[in-house]
Formats: sequence, C-alpha cells, structure tokens
Amino acid sequence: MAEQEKQRRQIRSYVLREGRLTRGQQRAFEEFWPRFGINFHRRRLDLARLYGNANPVHLEIGFGNGESIARMAQTHPENNYLGVEVHRPGVGRLLLRTAEAGLANLRIIRHDAVEVLDRCLEDASLEAVYLFFPDPWHKRRHHKRRILKPEFVARLARVIRPGGLFHAATDWQDYAEQMMSVLTTSPDFENRAGKGMYSPRPEYRIPTRFEKRGQRLGHGIWDLVFRRTNSGSGE
Ligand SMILES: C[S@@+](CC[C@H](N)C(=O)[O-])C[C@H]1O[C@@H](n2cnc3c(N)ncnc32)[C@H](O)[C@@H]1O
Repeated sequence: MAEQEKQRRQIRSYVLREGRLTRGQQRAFEEFWPRFGINFHRRRLDLARLYGNANPVHLEIGFGNGESIARMAQTHPENNYLGVEVHRPGVGRLLLRTAEAGLANLRIIRHDAVEVLDRCLEDASLEAVYLFFPDPWHKRRHHKRRILKPEFVARLARVIRPGGLFHAATDWQDYAEQMMSVLTTSPDFENRAGKGMYSPRPEYRIPTRFEKRGQRLGHGIWDLVFRRTNSGSGE
C-alpha cells in the first residue's frame, strides 16, 4: 500500500496547466462553488445526503469543459452526476453551465480522480463511470502516465456496483487497443459489445471539442462499454 501511495505521487495522468480564469469563471467559483462544488477531503462521501436523494450516481472523470456531463445531467434528471476534473477553467465552465441550466443533480470535485476514487467513494456506490478522451500521452516514454491501466481498473471495480457500467472513449488507436486489453484481462468486467469488440457511440455521449478535433486530424473514435460483473477479484 505504501508502495502504491508512492507510485501515485510520482506518476500522475495530468500536468496542471492552471490557465487564467475568465471573469465569468471567477464569478462562477465565488457564486456557485458553494452550491455545486464539493471540497476534497480524505473521507467517504455520503452521496444520498449530498444530492438529497438515493438516485443512481454516474461519475465522469476528466470532464474537460463539462459539455458531456452537463448534457447527461440535463437529459437524465432521474440520475445524479458527479464530475471530477483538475483543470480550474474547465471546472469554472461547468459551474456556469450547471447554474445556468439549474442542474440540481450535478456536483463537482476539483481534484485528482485517482485519489477521489480511493478516498471519497464507498464500495459499489456508482452506477456508471465515464472516461471520455483521457489525455493520450502518445509518446512512448509518457505511456506510464495514461490513466487507464490495471490498477485503475481495479479501483473502478471497487466503486462500480455489480451490473454497473464503465464507458471509455478515445481517438487514439493504440490507447484504444491498450484499454481493450486491460479491460478484457480484468475478471471484474465484461464487454457489452462482445469479446474484443468496440461499441457504437451511445446517444448519451455527445461529440465534444476534443473529439471533433481528433476527427479533423483524421483520427478514428473508439468507444468501449464494459459491465461490472457480479463476481470477480473485487468480490
Ligand atoms: C483530453 S481532455 C478530455 C476532456 C473531455 N473528457 C472531453 O472529451 O472533451 C482530458 C481531461 O482529463 C483531465 N484529467 C486528466 N487526468 C485527470 C485526473 N487524474 N483527475 C481528474 N482529471 C484529470 C485533464 O485535466 C483534461 O481536462
């Protein structure tokens, strides 16, 4: 465990580029963080208390500007949504969207998702986890920074309820292949599309800025949708 802790400190899946906040984003932090933001603490969250109901909770990791999660929260008021992102301007944008659309079912944490998974979430507390276009770290020497690796999948297996979903999308073929291999090897997940198969884009995942840029560069898009099995190493 001490070793795992050390590793996590050393290799992160992001480099913090703070960037400047616009006046609107700054105002969003002041006005809306108290309502929609959750300050990170090293303790489990009481999700039902947080949302004021026991509806299923869907987590998006690295939401960027928050287009996807805001849209999902708007079209699915019967679910709760939790967005985790480290990039402050992106968090500011999602705060603005959330407030403008009055999304009572959305909350945001600005912190490393790996630590949020470990520290803040109870076993089997999530209905679904989304990882859309994670940083590809495409140079071979940076591959170790890719977030989706066996340790990460084990973390997901703990927090996703049996029968719940993990959905990843990428526009980098070799990352898609790595994701497929890591997920296929896990005893805790099974591929909804069939062994080794990619899924068509589900309607709830709207194409984002990153995806459109990837398409302009001639990249393909790969969606992987896996179901948490009822048994496996995490049981
Ligand atoms: C390439 S962007 C994709 C953004 C968005 N999902 C989309 O499809 O447009 C990846 C995002 O993941 C965030 N990120 C990377 N590692 C993270 C981590 N460990 N915890 C939280 N966010 C992370 C980055 O800050 C960045 O905004």
